[in-house]
Amino acid sequence: MVVELVLVLLISSLWLMEPSAAAPPMAKHGCTDSCGAVTVPYPFGIGAEQCYLEKGFEITCKESANNPPKPFLTRFDLEVLSISLENQNVTVNVPVVPICRGNPWRSANLTGSPFRFSASNSFIVTGCGNALLTNQSGAIVGGCTTTCNSSIIIDTDGCYGIYCCQVLIPSGLTIFNIKTTTEECTRSFLWYSAHSPISGDFSNSSTPVLLDWMIKSPDIFPRERLSSTWGDANGSVISYGYSCPTYYEGNPYISNGCEGTYNFLLHSLPNLFTMKFSRHDVTWGVAPSKQCLVDCLAPLTFMR
Ligand SMILES: *[C@@H]1O[C@H](CO)[C@@H](O)[C@H](O)[C@H]1NC(C)=O
Ligand SMILES: *[C@@H]1O[C@H](CO)[C@@H](O)[C@H](O)[C@H]1NC(C)=O
Ligand SMILES: *[C@@H]1O[C@H](CO)[C@@H](O)[C@H](O)[C@H]1NC(C)=O
Ligand SMILES: *[C@@H]1O[C@H](CO)[C@@H](O)[C@H](O)[C@H]1NC(C)=O
Ligand SMILES: *[C@@H]1O[C@H](CO)[C@@H](O)[C@H](O)[C@H]1NC(C)=O
Ligand SMILES: *[C@@H]1O[C@H](CO)[C@@H](O)[C@H](O)[C@H]1NC(C)=O
Repeated sequence: MVVELVLVLLISSLWLMEPSAAAPPMAKHGCTDSCGAVTVPYPFGIGAEQCYLEKGFEITCKESANNPPKPFLTRFDLEVLSISLENQNVTVNVPVVPICRGNPWRSANLTGSPFRFSASNSFIVTGCGNALLTNQSGAIVGGCTTTCNSSIIIDTDGCYGIYCCQVLIPSGLTIFNIKTTTEECTRSFLWYSAHSPISGDFSNSSTPVLLDWMIKSPDIFPRERLSSTWGDANGSVISYGYSCPTYYEGNPYISNGCEGTYNFLLHSLPNLFTMKFSRHDVTWGVAPSKQCLVDCLAPLTFMR
């Protein structure tokens, strides 16, 4: 009788959930979930084949003598700076070399892989002259020319056309060339400015570049967790994105990867008692059901 009363109150009352404090697993069971300071969540993975979804997501953790180890996309040998499950993109570190006339620079070839260059990158030309971005058919898809005049004071805090120009790049690029038609060599590259702001200091020999990563089939992960889709220019779906249910956190790409702690408050009896319990998401389920409330009642403790 008492239990029934509590149940009725519980179910009819407002209840709140808060994310749990403990970090849920990011890698598949038995796999390493980080390399140096970088978290490596599934579908990315290090080591054994079952640790990553497909070859393109394989990460090599390279040890270095005096520095922490660094993760690399194995297939392209590109250093990974961060991986976002939520935004389905990854920031990589791309070397910058001077680009001179007659000697174009070719990007990594992402064609056929789960990656493409994000349209959030800017194409930047520094120095004195111009540079063009061409796609794999040789079509010009971007380019800009800098203004050079030694009597103009160089603003080293940005890229506004003087000794440095920038343009947006089209979406969907999987490979590109950079070439220049001017006498002077330029340093021209992609830059993802949300990772580190563009500044006049382009002395660094590499720049952050954002890649989108894609899950190309809707049949790999449970549909209950599907949260977004990406289309190509024609609107056909080419990538599927997943997330944990509201108030859960963790990795939606692994079974048991989402966790949440629910704090149930009996608002019907304010100040009388509060009740709390925790329950992990042990299935691919969405939100906790009333049946869960019933099942979960056993370990409840009441606090006066
Ligand atoms: C990742 O890509 C998506 C879609 O292209 C974009 O909306 C989002 O802003 C990107 N994430 C970041 C951190 O820029
Ligand atoms: C890029 O890779 C694709 C798929 O592997 C291949 O068909 C294409 O020829 C490559 N392009 C270049 C320029 O290497
Ligand atoms: C290259 O760009 C041109 C012009 O935007 C476009 O028509 C062509 O389809 C692109 N080629 C590839 C392989 O994306
Ligand atoms: C450089 O700028 C100065 C001042 O604006 C101008 O007088 C001069 O003609 C410019 N030189 C060139 C080569 O554009
Ligand atoms: C150059 O690299 C260093 C070390 O990686 C970093 O701290 C600095 O912010 C970078 N400079 C720019 C302009 O991105
Ligand atoms: C979009 O549709 C046109 C016409 O059907 C086709 O030629 C083109 O290849 C499609 N583009 C993409 C990116 O699928």
